[in-house]
This record gives sequence, C-alpha cells and structure tokens, in this order.
Amino acid sequence: MAGVLSFHVISIKNSVALKPVTKQTIKRASVIRCAAYTPKKRYTIAVLPGDGIGNEVTPVAVDALRLAGSLEGLELSFEELPIGGKALDLVGVPLPEETLTRAKQSDAILLGAAGWPKWDDHPKHLKPITGLSQLRAGLDVFSNLRPVRVFPQLIGSTCLRQETVQGVDLMIIRELTGGIYNAHPRGFTTNEQGDEVGFCTESYSSTEVDRIARVAFEIAKQRRGKLCSVDKASVLEGSILWRERVTKMSSEYPEVEVTHLLIETAAMDLIRHPKEFDVILTGIMFGDILSDLAAVIPGSVGLLPSASFGDSGLGIFEPIHGSAPKHYGKDTVNPLASVLSAVMLLRYGLKEENAAKRIEDAVFDVLDRGFRTRDIHTHGTILVGCKRMGQEILRSLDAKVDNRVLASTGSLVY
Ligand code: IPM
Ligand code: MG
Repeated sequence: MAGVLSFHVISIKNSVALKPVTKQTIKRASVIRCAAYTPKKRYTIAVLPGDGIGNEVTPVAVDALRLAGSLEGLELSFEELPIGGKALDLVGVPLPEETLTRAKQSDAILLGAAGWPKWDDHPKHLKPITGLSQLRAGLDVFSNLRPVRVFPQLIGSTCLRQETVQGVDLMIIRELTGGIYNAHPRGFTTNEQGDEVGFCTESYSSTEVDRIARVAFEIAKQRRGKLCSVDKASVLEGSILWRERVTKMSSEYPEVEVTHLLIETAAMDLIRHPKEFDVILTGIMFGDILSDLAAVIPGSVGLLPSASFGDSGLGIFEPIHGSAPKHYGKDTVNPLASVLSAVMLLRYGLKEENAAKRIEDAVFDVLDRGFRTRDIHTHGTILVGCKRMGQEILRSLDAKVDNRVLASTGSLVY
C-alpha cells in the first residue's frame, strides 16, 4: 500500500511540510483512483502561505487540491516557498529571489497572506506586504479578479437585508500593478516650512488602462454584459484618463453596457443595490477598498477568493483577506476564501474544470451539511474550526467519488 500511496497520490516535491490529507482519506481516494483513472497531466504549484492565518487556510486549500487532483488523474506537486514575514525571518528580505524564480517556473501560485505586526515599524522595503507587491510586479499580474457571490446556504450570514443580497454574483476587476501603489515619484521629503512630507503619485497610463479594461470587457461579454467603471474623475487626472480610455474602448464592445461611477457613489450603491452590478472595473486602491466592502454582502471576508493574471497566463490565487494576526493560531478562521481560490486556480489557471468543479461542489456540500466557521455561523448550523472545515471538504470530495465509482462499477475497489 505504501508503494501505491507514494506513486499515485502525488509526486512529492514538497520542500516543506504542509499538513497532509489524513492518511485514511488519501488511502481511500488513491486506491479508488488506481482502479478508475490513469494519471494524465502534471502540474507544479508554488505554495506561499506567508504569514498568520495564511498558514491555517492554505494547507486546507492544498489538501483539497491534492485530493481533487488525484481524483481527476492529475499529478500535482506542491512546492512551498517563503514570502512576507516568514521570508524576512529566514533570509532578511520579504521576497527572496529564489521564491520569485521558482514561482515563475511553476504552473500556478497559491498564496496565503503577507503581513505581521513585528515588522510594522520597519522601513517599507522590510515589510512583509512589500513581498506581495514585489511578487505581483515580478510576475506582472496586472489584472486581479475578485468574484463576489452569495451562496444560498449562507444567506443568513449577511448583516444586510436578505432580499438585497440574494443572488448577488458580481466580479470586481482591479488593476494590480500600477496606480497609486506603484507609480513614481514617491517618497519622503521636507517642505519649505520644514515639515516632513510623505508623498506618492496617483497615475495611470493609457497602456495600463487599456490592458485592464480589455480584460474587463472580455469578461463582461461572457457574463451579463454590464460593465461599471469606477474612478474619481471629478478630481484625479489618472481617473480622467481612465474614464476616457474606457469610454473609447466601449465602441469595440457594443454588446457591453458601460456605466461610470465615482468611487463614493459606487461604494454606496454596492451596499444598497449589489444586484445591479455585474463587472466592476477599477484601479488598485479603489479595488482594494471596494472588495473588502463587498465582503459585507455575503457576510465575511473569509469567503472571497481572487485570481491575478498577466499576459503570460501564470496566475496568483489568493484569498482577499490578510494575515489576521488577532485570529492566528486559534483554529477559528474560515478557509473557504483560500479553497475557492484553489477552485479559481484549477478553473482559470490550469484549465482543469473537472477538478475545479469537484472542489466547488464539495464546498457547497459542506455548507449544505451545515458546517460553518465562526465568521459565518448562524443559529442552527454547526460551528467548526478551520481544520474541521477542511476535513469536511475532503469528506465531501471523497463521498462524491464513492458515488461515482459505485455508480459505474457497482462496488468500491478497496
Ligand atoms: C489585498 C491586500 C494587499 C493590497 C496589501 C496586503 C498590499 O490588501 O490584496 O487586498 O492592498 O493589494
Ligand atoms: Mg485588501
């Protein structure tokens, strides 16, 4: 059996120990797979759990990927790499060259979170989140897709009116490598009065706007054909250009209905009428704020995944939440944002729809069976921790294969 396990479950290239799927689950699923499937494709996934709760939620997503992949005959190998505070502790920089190089060589990147209070007073180049910005810049992943969906099972978890949020399905498309986070000049200086000044530049070039707008139009075309571009064109020059370029591109997409909103109106409308939105296109800072705000709609930031792409097609998949130092180490956080990021990794990164669907179905099944972490817990549901949520996802994945094999052969092969 040991031979079967090591050969079939995964080609173990993990450089570090991520918590493995329980042995029993692996055995069962792998043996079933031995009988039912032959390995087809191999992928290497760079795993960057980073800091804080990134270390709690990412292993859950890896376990789900590992099992769903093996059930679909995929050979997934996981390579854990340091980023953020973990990398600072290990080698003194938030993004080691080795991490960037190996990440570039992988087929997809699964990220946890970066940020830890220990580094708060350090200069920017020695802060954990700088590692994240450097990774995004290093891979030139300029488009950040942040879907927001309200699952019917979780309708009770919102603090908004249920009829307001029911059926919400929108996509925030956030520019990720330009704008105020990245543009120059920036820095610290002293003004004529001798005051210290910190400054940065809010700028967007036509190339930067055009490439993210193109992504948004293409996605809107495949969805409900509505695109709302969000800016601050009443004040900011970068936004004025943004609006002009989006308007210009709209003539190429007559099937997409385009509207423009100022950021403050968009923030209000997102909460008042979330169902009105299909695709929201916006810049790096407004997108950061709007996506956390949008987490109020389904009820928790622990539910929102994301995917970031550049022209190369290599993607970073990560929850939109941070490292949550206050919650770390208590086994209470919600791993679903990370697990749903794994779904995006399979679906949009590796184009492995069947495996993606397996994990997505497992998430639905776990919610149908009533399991909830603290952030989404409501009366009458079963309160569980992060690890247990992960175990239930594996159980759902496993149960699905039981049904399939039973249906096709009439008996389980183990
Ligand atoms: C996010 C985060 C990051 C961002 C931080 C950690 C740099 O808030 O991914 O939403 O603002 O991009
Ligand atoms: Mg954010």
